[in-house]
Amino acid sequence: MNKPEQNASRPPVGEVEPLTRRTFVKVGMVAAGAAYATALGYPIYRYLATPAERSAALAAVKELALADADKLPRESALMFKFAGRPAILLHHADDTWTALTAVCTHLGCTVQFDKERKAIYCACHGGVYDAKTGANISGPPPKPLALFKAQVLTGKVVISRA
Ligand code: FES
Repeated sequence: MNKPEQNASRPPVGEVEPLTRRTFVKVGMVAAGAAYATALGYPIYRYLATPAERSAALAAVKELALADADKLPRESALMFKFAGRPAILLHHADDTWTALTAVCTHLGCTVQFDKERKAIYCACHGGVYDAKTGANISGPPPKPLALFKAQVLTGKVVISRA
């Protein structure tokens, strides 16, 4: 009985193939391809991951101190950013204070204090909010502005999530 013929270029079963120039070039090409893919993919990964990481970091902000905001005159407002989003601190005529998000609940425009009307006004579509409570009182905004807790101290006002 004849044994099946073995391929002359392959080593017998159980023996390790010697490193040839062809194998060395193949391994080099795969390593260079992997390095190239990493160099190309990492900046793309960082670009895509950054907004999620940034919003997670901003969501972790629970409190903010506004230096010298206690000197804000009555019937005036101070715009600031809380966790990267616009917010507004109001000092009312009766010496009460209110801190609200300043992002309109309609389409996200930044609202501002209207001293004439003593209300918060959104210039984009005419939305109006109550300056003390943030309640939506006219126009298209579907929800009130979110309230913050404002603690007036000597030399600062501490704003925190309500
Ligand atoms: S975005 Fe404010 S009223 Fe439309």
